[in-house]
Amino acid sequence: MEQTRQDAVRRYGNLPGIEEREPLALGLFMPNCSYGYSITTYKPVPDDWTYESNVKIARAAEAAGFDFLFPVAKWRGYGGKTNYLGTSLETMTWAGALLAVTERINVYSTVHVPIFHPLVAAKMGATLDHISNGRWGLNVVSGWSEREFGMMGIEVLPHDERYARTEAYIEIVKGLWTCEPGSFDYDSKWYRIREGWVMPQPTRRPHPPIANAGVSEAAREMVARLCDWAFIALPSLEATADVTADIRGRSGRYGRSIKCANYPLVVWTETEREADAERRRILENMDREAAENWARGLMPQSGSFDNFTLEMFAMGGGGLPIFGTREQVAEKLDQLYRAGMDGVLMVFLSYYEDTVRFATEIMPLLRQLGTIRG
Ligand SMILES: Cc1cc2nc3c(=O)[nH]c(=O)nc-3n(C[C@H](O)[C@H](O)[C@H](O)COP(=O)(O)O)c2cc1C
Repeated sequence: MEQTRQDAVRRYGNLPGIEEREPLALGLFMPNCSYGYSITTYKPVPDDWTYESNVKIARAAEAAGFDFLFPVAKWRGYGGKTNYLGTSLETMTWAGALLAVTERINVYSTVHVPIFHPLVAAKMGATLDHISNGRWGLNVVSGWSEREFGMMGIEVLPHDERYARTEAYIEIVKGLWTCEPGSFDYDSKWYRIREGWVMPQPTRRPHPPIANAGVSEAAREMVARLCDWAFIALPSLEATADVTADIRGRSGRYGRSIKCANYPLVVWTETEREADAERRRILENMDREAAENWARGLMPQSGSFDNFTLEMFAMGGGGLPIFGTREQVAEKLDQLYRAGMDGVLMVFLSYYEDTVRFATEIMPLLRQLGTIRG
């Protein structure tokens, strides 16, 4: 891994030393959707998409010292036995409710560019920023699912055009948040803003963090130029250094510095054998129909998941599997950090129990490794 990182640094030349970097930001990819986020009928706990369980998990994550909570924005499911992600809490309203019952943790919302007008998203975001005293962040996704958008009569644009529109979207949101209210004009193929007005503007300066979740060439270039966080899918631990160095290199060329996070499926047990048994149970109970629907929808619309198999999608929805004993899991999270990852949106099998266990079983090891502090 160290060799891979050094090769990547040689190629792109810009990963700061560990002592200059902030510690690894710990986040949860929250189960605001049903069967979040493995495409399998194997679930050690009953489905936990409900608001009550989201609140319980959010409070446990805050008590454990996690940094942020992150949802998935979905409008319908993917069929099969699970109807994967078919029941879900909308993420702007979900964030408002969680921010009102927490005090320190950051909460993100995810907006689909074709569904929310940027002025509406900017206004809702400013409201969430005020409700939370600056603890809210925005994840902007271009949207890829004909299943979801077809239901609304909305066309899914060709891949790179989607990102051109998303660029305009983010420029508008930023303009509305930072320019004198009433002074912001913007012209593009998709949006025309005149004397754009959002009051109050967010308390967080220069503005709430903006993330994009995409890995294709078009997504990377846009993230580098306009976003604060790149949320990415990774095919393997070994691929980390190349991807993070590339994103850092691109943002450096725009005179910016952005952060990277990925979403690992984190499972730890007493022995490696038990962890392997958990991995087998997920795959043996894979909901093949839903996984195929998911892959069929996503892959032609993506440059990120080209080499992903159905099994990889079944594991945490394409999350990087990090399985093993607690020592092995802590070491792999540390490897991600050292390969340039600034944050993790962790997927768990039993969200509440694993959040509580993570604080007592994994965090002390991460402190020893220097991955997190405190
Ligand atoms: C961490 C992460 C979170 C994502 N969240 C969502 C989401 O909530 N809703 C959605 O429709 N797509 C979501 N996506 C899909 C991406 O927006 C994007 O369409 C996909 O990764 C393909 O990337 P590409 O467009 O760069 O090829 C997510 C992807 C990642 C990696």
